[in-house]
Amino acid sequence: MRGRFITFEGGEGAGKSTQISFLAAALEAQGLPVLQTREPGGSPGAEEIRGLLVRGEAGRWDGVSETLLLYAARRNHLQTVILPALEQGRWVLCDRFNDSTLAYQGYGRGLAMDWLDSLYQAVSEGLQPDLTLYIDVPVEVGLARAGRRGDDENRFEGLADSFHLKIRRGFQEIVRNNPDRCATIDGMGSVDEIRRVILETVLSRLPHHGR
Ligand SMILES: Nc1ncnc2c1ncn2[C@@H]1O[C@H](COP(=O)(O)OP(=O)(O)O)[C@@H](O)[C@H]1O
Ligand SMILES: [Mg+2]
Repeated sequence: MRGRFITFEGGEGAGKSTQISFLAAALEAQGLPVLQTREPGGSPGAEEIRGLLVRGEAGRWDGVSETLLLYAARRNHLQTVILPALEQGRWVLCDRFNDSTLAYQGYGRGLAMDWLDSLYQAVSEGLQPDLTLYIDVPVEVGLARAGRRGDDENRFEGLADSFHLKIRRGFQEIVRNNPDRCATIDGMGSVDEIRRVILETVLSRLPHHGR
């Protein structure tokens, strides 16, 4: 049986990377085969492209170049990692996916949505996540959390607050437009509260027969 594809979305510091690992452990404990991955990146080729995207000056790429790099990476990730894992029946958990491109490059940078949609169609051949968990936090909370993380992947964090606000509004609109696929998770609770809400959401939206 084909596996399930779950994506985590949200702005910087929302708690995606924290929560995806908890969900992976919880599903594994139920006897499910899990693959945890991330974008941009997730395959050797796409991780090389990630390095170009997340480091350096914010103005290093314009929106069009950035978008083409993202979709080149996504194509490689889908072909070499995500699709084979789903074929093998695994539950694929991905830290950011196409909704991040719509939010950042579409709503944030103002690139045409129909261009992004046609690029997604070309690289994905129509695959959609079975469930998208959008973790919502106010911009200032997310940026403060991300600042504490202390890594060097800060190219997008350096952008203006107004840009991050557009991204948040964008994610919220994507969720409103795709209610069957997407669930909003309030990211303002404790790590443990959010962990429980996410697990309940996954188990109710994607019933399964584990071990
Ligand atoms: N619910 C939460 N409350 C407070 N701090 C949190 C919460 N979730 C995550 N954090 C912290 O915020 C920072 C960013 O979290 P992270 O999971 O890396 O966010 P993201 O992957 O969405 O950018 C980390 O230092 C993490 O420990
Ligand atoms: Mg993260």
